[in-house]
Amino acid sequence: MRRLTIQCLRQTYEVLIGLGLLDQPPKALLDFMAGRGTAIVTDRGLPLDHVERVYKALKAQCKMATVLHIKKGEQAKDMNTVLELAQELARLRFDRADAMVALGGGTVLDIAGFVSAIYMRGIPYVNIPTTALAQADACIGGKVGINFGGGKNLLGSFYHPSLVMVDPSLVQTQTMDDLRSGLAEVVKAAIIGDKGLFAMLEHNAGALLSLKDPAALEDPLYRALKVKAMVVQEDEIEAGPRMKLNLGHTIGHALELLLKEKNPLAHGDAVAVGMMVASEIALNRGWLCPGDYTRIMDLLHLLAPAEHWKDLDSQAVVTATGLDKKRRAGVLHVVLPLEIGHVKVVSDVTEQELIRAIERVKGHGP
Ligand SMILES: NC(=O)c1ccc[n+]([C@@H]2O[C@H](COP(=O)([O-])OP(=O)(O)OC[C@H]3O[C@@H](n4cnc5c(N)ncnc54)[C@H](O)[C@@H]3O)[C@@H](O)[C@H]2O)c1
Ligand SMILES: [Zn+2]
Repeated sequence: MRRLTIQCLRQTYEVLIGLGLLDQPPKALLDFMAGRGTAIVTDRGLPLDHVERVYKALKAQCKMATVLHIKKGEQAKDMNTVLELAQELARLRFDRADAMVALGGGTVLDIAGFVSAIYMRGIPYVNIPTTALAQADACIGGKVGINFGGGKNLLGSFYHPSLVMVDPSLVQTQTMDDLRSGLAEVVKAAIIGDKGLFAMLEHNAGALLSLKDPAALEDPLYRALKVKAMVVQEDEIEAGPRMKLNLGHTIGHALELLLKEKNPLAHGDAVAVGMMVASEIALNRGWLCPGDYTRIMDLLHLLAPAEHWKDLDSQAVVTATGLDKKRRAGVLHVVLPLEIGHVKVVSDVTEQELIRAIERVKGHGP
């Protein structure tokens, strides 16, 4: 088992990463839950076996344990779900001595974290991420929220969990597409701040993608979370350096937005393409050396991101980036790789530069 300690302004919390953690719950979880009532929030898409394992592990330890199901998918991230959960907590007479457990992908973590943040002005919660994306990224950092008025994550807060438990065996029931998509966030972390992780991914990509050995995920997940933890500790409320974590996301969000109605693009695929575009810009500026550029492109192509985005008009993609909340005070922040393990946030990328980079990525094949 690997352990990460995250120090935030108002609290410190542990992230435990290990295969089979749910079958032999660590002392840290049992101690934290002892004597509390708990509501395990999960969605209807999660295999029941995962829910039962967590329920069993906690039932013996907790004063009371119950499971609250929300609908699955992004559409659950709305005010109705927040109200449903809050009503249940009130009915159960939950208070600050109790704790919520968020068991699911990023959707469940975002909603359960948000409800935890606002119910009685804040109750403790534990994250147990079940998708590769949530295990590599969403489970730490404290960003919680829901979609509102057409805006993604428009209502939210920074509210950290008390404990995070990452068991890579859970992702074995995910589709290969979802797993692949989650790994894009691991690649992102490697490019931002861990050259050794990048090399590890290059060597193990086949094994990681086939999921024959979920134990092989332990180290990459630990290292990806470590990169995010370092960035978040430096800038908890996204005033500056935390923007690094948006590598690939400015273009990625634009692609997701443009395709969401007709033929949605998975988040990880969108981020993979966004990282390719960022690498093109950096190469063109002479900031990223051709060797690192080629390694980045090759690894991202191994993730085989879907290609239907290539039918989009490049100008439309650029226009859509303006809708992204990352455009602050008229400035579009873009994260560019300077080398593997090092990135820079810039605000002077021109429309022409972006279009040129998108066109070049369209011309690339795996
Ligand atoms: N807070 C953050 O820092 C942060 C970071 C990245 C993404 N997010 C958010 O995460 C959300 C996306 O999360 P996601 O990609 O994890 O998808 P998701 O949570 O929407 O889950 C996708 C589907 O997979 C199912 N599922 C979950 N775990 C499974 C498993 N182990 N086996 C089989 N099926 C499983 C779910 O039931 C759901 O139907 C977005 O809303 C995004 O905004 C948040
Ligand atoms: Zn992401």
